[in-house]
Amino acid sequence: MAFPQSFIDELLARNPIEDVVGQHVHLKRSGANMFGLCPFHGEKTASFSVAPDKGIYYCFGCHKGGGAINFVMELEGLSYPDAVRSLAKRSGMEVPEDEQYQSRYRQQERLWALHKEAARFFHSQLYAPIGKSALEYALGRGMSKSTLTKFGIGYAPDSWDMLVKAMEIKGYTRQELIDSGLVTVSKKNGNIFDRFRDRLMFPIIDTRGNVIGFGGRIMNNNDPNAAKYLNSPETLIFNKRKNLFGLNYAKKSQLGYLILVEGYMDAIALHQYGFDCAVASLGTSLTEEHAVLISRYVEQVVLIYDGDEAGQRATRRAIPILEKAGIRVKVLQMRDAKDPDEYLKKFGADKFRLLLEDSANRVEYQLSAIRKKYDLSVDDQKVRYVHESAELISTLGSSVQREIYGNRVAESAGISFEAMKLEIGKAYKRRLQQEKKAQEKIDLTPAKNLQPKVRTIRYDNMKSAMAEEGAIAMVLQDPALMDKAKNLTGGQFSVPVLGKVYDQLLAMHQKGMEVTLAALTELTPEETSHVVGICQHREGPVNETAFDDCVATILRTSQASSITSDDDLMKFRNKLKESKGTKP
Ligand code: UTP
Ligand code: MN
Repeated sequence: MAFPQSFIDELLARNPIEDVVGQHVHLKRSGANMFGLCPFHGEKTASFSVAPDKGIYYCFGCHKGGGAINFVMELEGLSYPDAVRSLAKRSGMEVPEDEQYQSRYRQQERLWALHKEAARFFHSQLYAPIGKSALEYALGRGMSKSTLTKFGIGYAPDSWDMLVKAMEIKGYTRQELIDSGLVTVSKKNGNIFDRFRDRLMFPIIDTRGNVIGFGGRIMNNNDPNAAKYLNSPETLIFNKRKNLFGLNYAKKSQLGYLILVEGYMDAIALHQYGFDCAVASLGTSLTEEHAVLISRYVEQVVLIYDGDEAGQRATRRAIPILEKAGIRVKVLQMRDAKDPDEYLKKFGADKFRLLLEDSANRVEYQLSAIRKKYDLSVDDQKVRYVHESAELISTLGSSVQREIYGNRVAESAGISFEAMKLEIGKAYKRRLQQEKKAQEKIDLTPAKNLQPKVRTIRYDNMKSAMAEEGAIAMVLQDPALMDKAKNLTGGQFSVPVLGKVYDQLLAMHQKGMEVTLAALTELTPEETSHVVGICQHREGPVNETAFDDCVATILRTSQASSITSDDDLMKFRNKLKESKGTKP
């Protein structure tokens, strides 16, 4: 274990959960607990709870939960040791540093510093004689001098080792260069050489201001096989699924929403034209992590993907991902230009602003997408158009919305609103029926219902798993129960994670420390949330008999399953034979 338990114990004591959470969430007391709006998913009613006496938080909406350390990890995207460091700093404690963690953190810091140096190097090359044509290219694409400075645009020279040399002079080692992803290793002789050559360089900067990677655009088409954009590979500090280009600036925007585009150049052009809330995903499709990241800053996103089929597909994919994170989505459909960059240069900021104001909410966008699929002069297609639109409209929660959009579709199809309303009603009933059937299926297989939502945890023996959940929930309320169950250890649990948790709680108890979920270590955020969820859903008086029952079930299952190895089976059989043999 990384940090001594006693240190974590004091850390938690000095950083009460309600204070740590309270810095970010407005909490209102209600009985023993406090409630507020969940910072991890968008919501209007408070389903996020904090239990000061237990030192934990739990969201009944998105099922995230944990202690103060987990909260900081989740909210600030920090690793466990970094979250501990952050809390220690907050409460003026000195951190007893573990060798391994210290070295990992140092390694990260070195990579950030190396990237900053590399960005400086690339930027200076843009203004050196060697970067003349790159500078011309950048200016030719309409980037102003101040934009080049703001985004730290640079040039990676057409050379095998200029970056390597420049970084070696600054004291970076071969290994650090390899770890940064800024070089590639020759398979032939093991030499390292610059990954980015003769490219216009876009530094990727995280929300804390660290340069964590680069995108590099090719400027000539000499090599038809070369990728237009080359991006940094995944490294200790760079994960493209979790970062967005331009968010370091966009998060400070006063506009109150984010514009999400496909390309670096689009985001940069938007900023230059005054739309300082633009971000781009980094050559990947939008991920759930991106959506959660975005939801920390805004409640609304305007999607502006390219007008082509790929862009439309990406839009359809992105809408539910964003909505799941509680974000309202609008869609701007590109017209008369391939992408925002091109549009701004052709028509200017004022025209673009009109387009932006005109951007449709996602329902309008989806309806118009359906509309485009059908030729309304053909009766049969008209029927299918009405049908499909009614299906979409029937999913809308508000009757006002249903009436407005229903009217619009009725008008365009040339049918009465009455007929349309009927169609929407039918679609609604159909869906209810389907949902009911699906629910019945779940109800008929209750075991399925009890399976954890977390994909990494499986309950193979449901009976034992329920007993294990119960035992943990009970010892948290009354740790003295553990003294009674002397022969119970985590090793006997059928669910490894729950066993791990029990052992940690037992260790806390035996060392005379407070037994709390807030001090758990070595669990993933999903595992922590799952365990906290168990305890939040299993409130109630502790009952010694119930605890004894749980222990008995766990031990019985563990003994039964321990006769599964061949060895054990042999012994078991022999024993059986013996006992038979002795009987006359
Ligand atoms: P686009 O091909 O639409 O390029 O790719 P763009 O942004 O309009 O660039 P310009 O205007 O031609 O310079 C959109 C995004 O997809 C990723 C990049 O992040 C790019 O900004 N991409 C594209 C890659 O990662 N690799 C590629 O080879 C191409
Ligand atoms: Mn473009």
